[in-house]
Amino acid sequence: MDAAKKPVTVIINGRRCRADAGERILSVAIREKIAIPHLCYEASLDPYGACRLCLVEVIKRGKNEMTTSCTLWATEGLDVVTDTPDIVKHRNILFELYLAQAPKSEIIKKMAAQYGVTKTRFFKKVNPADPLGNACILCGLCVRVCDEIMGAGAITFVNRGPYTVVNTPFSEVTRDCLGCGACAKVCPTGAIRIDDLEGERVMTSWSGTRVPLVQCRACGRFFAPQALAAKTLARLTPALAGDVAALCPECRGQQIAEREIRAKTGGAGNHA
Ligand code: SF4
Ligand code: FES
Repeated sequence: MDAAKKPVTVIINGRRCRADAGERILSVAIREKIAIPHLCYEASLDPYGACRLCLVEVIKRGKNEMTTSCTLWATEGLDVVTDTPDIVKHRNILFELYLAQAPKSEIIKKMAAQYGVTKTRFFKKVNPADPLGNACILCGLCVRVCDEIMGAGAITFVNRGPYTVVNTPFSEVTRDCLGCGACAKVCPTGAIRIDDLEGERVMTSWSGTRVPLVQCRACGRFFAPQALAAKTLARLTPALAGDVAALCPECRGQQIAEREIRAKTGGAGNHA
């Protein structure tokens, strides 16, 4: 086995846990069902320690050092604890800040309450026109997934200081949005609103950008954003692309199953 890829053993709250080389402590804790609250960790993106909620203390030569577990590499013998009085103090302040920053996020409220924080001493004026419903903590995951994974770069941080929000550039309808919905999927606070209407996906939070959907030739259901389909289909041969573009996943699955049955039975019988 490649030495660099050798599994390592780490200690979390006194429990010995196996970790893959190159894994972060938060990922190990999630697998081992050790509770560490976190908001800005998304396995498909490089961690960048934005929310600071996943604090742990590393015990080194009898001294404790506080750091974020989503950015902390698992190394042989690493010893961490997740619930010291200092961590609880910092974490509670962070929860208070997030309760003030995103007062309409039910997810934040529930998470904070699980850690005993139900009120905040901080205050931020609620903006009735906020396209993210006053539920955004500005973690940036949506911006990063749109840019780094989808390659669309349709959204960004706009304005400055206390007026900073995530939106489309100049808060205008954008042609760059693929309508994939990855932003909403990774958003830890449930802030992003997307509405599927007949034939159209409306990115309500992103300045109401509208993305047409592809209709299934067999069942008539609208099933995928046209822009996303076009991007994916460009990588396929024209014959395969035509097949894939015309049918929704269910009808395509059915078509494949029928083809296989025909191949196996030599086309005998009625398999509709
Ligand atoms: S909308 Fe969600 S993912 Fe985007 S910055 Fe706000 S909290 Fe993070
Ligand atoms: S999850 Fe680690 S800093 Fe946000």
